[in-house]
Amino acid sequence: MEDKKVLFSAIQPSGILTIGNYLGALKNFKKLQNDYNSIFSLADLHTLTVSQDPATLRKNIYELTALYIACGLDPEQSIIFAQSHVSAHTELAWVLNTICYPGELSRMTQFKDKSRKHEDNINMGLMDYPVLMASDILLYQTELVPIGADQKQHLELTRDLAIRFNNKYSETFKIPEPYVAKTGARVMSLQDPTRKMSKSDENINAFISMDDDTDTIIRKFKRAVTDSDNRIIFSSEKPGISNLLTIYSLFANKTIEEAEKEFEGAGYGDFKLKVGEAVASVIEPIRLEKNKLLQNKDYLDEVLANGANKAERLAYKTLAKVYRKIGLVPRKRI
Ligand code: TRP
Repeated sequence: MEDKKVLFSAIQPSGILTIGNYLGALKNFKKLQNDYNSIFSLADLHTLTVSQDPATLRKNIYELTALYIACGLDPEQSIIFAQSHVSAHTELAWVLNTICYPGELSRMTQFKDKSRKHEDNINMGLMDYPVLMASDILLYQTELVPIGADQKQHLELTRDLAIRFNNKYSETFKIPEPYVAKTGARVMSLQDPTRKMSKSDENINAFISMDDDTDTIIRKFKRAVTDSDNRIIFSSEKPGISNLLTIYSLFANKTIEEAEKEFEGAGYGDFKLKVGEAVASVIEPIRLEKNKLLQNKDYLDEVLANGANKAERLAYKTLAKVYRKIGLVPRKRI
């Protein structure tokens, strides 16, 4: 790999991704791969922390692989791989478990939220989730991790574990930094703009899925909640309109001010249509390309296989170092 900083990120293949995921992660990944030695993983083992249907999980793994590529990730330039294909991830997680305290995990906001949401399945994996994530990151001597606000605590823990290990056994891991995107705007629900857009919203009109076709996207934007005053301006008193302006600006690559100017004097109906069209013009080609790629499972398998080969070499270098430092005896190959 060239002498660039290592950047690692991962998404869980757990079904629907929304335009929030696209703006928060995928759109930036494409740009980041030019500037960094980028590794993009499918956190398939992380999905097991909540109940999964095997056939659906299998489908979702291919879906996300195809989506990565359809969004512009280049499997030659970046490493695209499935976490479960490189067993060093779970191996390092075990070692990190031995220097992580239960209190550090039980107070994680995501653990508490998910425990509440999945009361019938509060398993050890759900609690240990951040340790596996730390392993993902630390195996590659990662310097930068693009993450959303909800994962900041996990990255903090990753740093703590890395520092703890380094202090105990001497310098082994690079200490990763969060990569905060410049345009990290939060995309809110189209039905309740005070809440974050979520794929698990029971009202499907509240979110735009990466699988929505143009008609669906435009229809959902037409139904988006606004307010009675008819000015198109960005203001905390107008969360619905502000959210639509944010979405428009990010999809049309314009500033909020430019967008406000463009829609000065326009009616809500016209504005919503334009937002829908701007979103659809980006999402539609991605969806079509993804569906085309999904027709060719052999190609997707090949991408994952090559990615795993490349990732494995890097990961095992770190794991071997870790095993050596803690006093394990290297296996002799005979
Ligand atoms: N926990 C992340 C999420 O759900 C996914 C993830 C797993 C990840 N391993 C990672 C993100 C390592 C960044 C780095 O969003």
